[in-house]
Amino acid sequence: MRSVSLSRFLIDEQWQKHAIPSDLRLLVEVVARAIKAISINVGKGALAGVLGDAGSGNVQGEAQKKLDVIANEILLEANEWGGHLAAMASEEMEGPHAIPHRFPKGEYLLLFDPLDGSSNIDVNVSVGTIFSVLRCPEGVDPTSEQAFLQPGTAQVCAGFAVFGPSTVLVLTMGQGVHAFTLDREVGSFVLTREDIRIPEDTKEFAINMSNQRHWESPVQRYIGELLAGKSGPRGTDFNMRWVASMVADVYRILTRGGIFMYPRDTKEPGKAGRLRLMYEANPMAMIIEQAGGGATTGRERILDVQPTALHQRIAVYLGSKNEVDRVTGYHQG
Ligand code: AHG
Ligand code: MN
Ligand code: MN
Repeated sequence: MRSVSLSRFLIDEQWQKHAIPSDLRLLVEVVARAIKAISINVGKGALAGVLGDAGSGNVQGEAQKKLDVIANEILLEANEWGGHLAAMASEEMEGPHAIPHRFPKGEYLLLFDPLDGSSNIDVNVSVGTIFSVLRCPEGVDPTSEQAFLQPGTAQVCAGFAVFGPSTVLVLTMGQGVHAFTLDREVGSFVLTREDIRIPEDTKEFAINMSNQRHWESPVQRYIGELLAGKSGPRGTDFNMRWVASMVADVYRILTRGGIFMYPRDTKEPGKAGRLRLMYEANPMAMIIEQAGGGATTGRERILDVQPTALHQRIAVYLGSKNEVDRVTGYHQG
């Protein structure tokens, strides 16, 4: 089989399929290069002294790990000078990050969760990076929050990397979902899965069961039915997996199906969920939909949500279409 590198794939998208402009190709190349650098840091672990707490907190009041900070720095530095961006926003920074005046500017906005699954860093379990690309609206200051507050349907590209036994980059530019595995010796991403499709049915679910007592009734009903197994209303046994790194849970769903849920709950009534709309829910929803799956808040399609704040949180149900439709129906019924 002919080996197709990410660069070759992107060139084909631009010149053969006319699916992407050259500045979006450059953007993806630069993000992929940053992801390689993050992967190297993650892989060195204790040898490079990158494990443990940074001793700081982010805008969301979460304690930062050293790798949260390192990954954020790598993405900022890599994307500042290429001329493809108007501004950036990160889960780890309070407001939008301007491109320094000395560098050329482009028309895209890049958003990222530099290190997803932070609680897994020190225990050597898969973590990853999630990103989303928007166009900067004309006449809007790219460094204003307003520029970024666009619904997920406006994303022109979304992707994530999982730093697991191998480093895999998953990418969509609105025409299917493809996965690239990092060839560590060569230092390049190689296309290893083309046009990924998620099975519509599944018997595997992912949820943090420790929150059960805080869930709302539609979630109680849905999970209750799954747990009842063969003798319950679903008439079949379901299996459970929860990595606690969304990147790893979503990659599993892209591989063999499943449903991932992080519902809103009554533990902290002020919070509309755990996951962040702009850095986690939207890019993952675009990828999942592009692979034939479903992605909702329980009440509506995630990609249709009009964001009101950069660090907004939201409930997330995504994965195999028939299960996402079912649990969404329980909320609406
Ligand atoms: P982050 O490390 O970027 O803060 O995100 C972690 C997220 C997500 O990856 C995962 O699904 C979820 O938080 C895990 O939450 P629990 O610790 O509640 O299981
Ligand atoms: Mn995250
Ligand atoms: Mn994070």
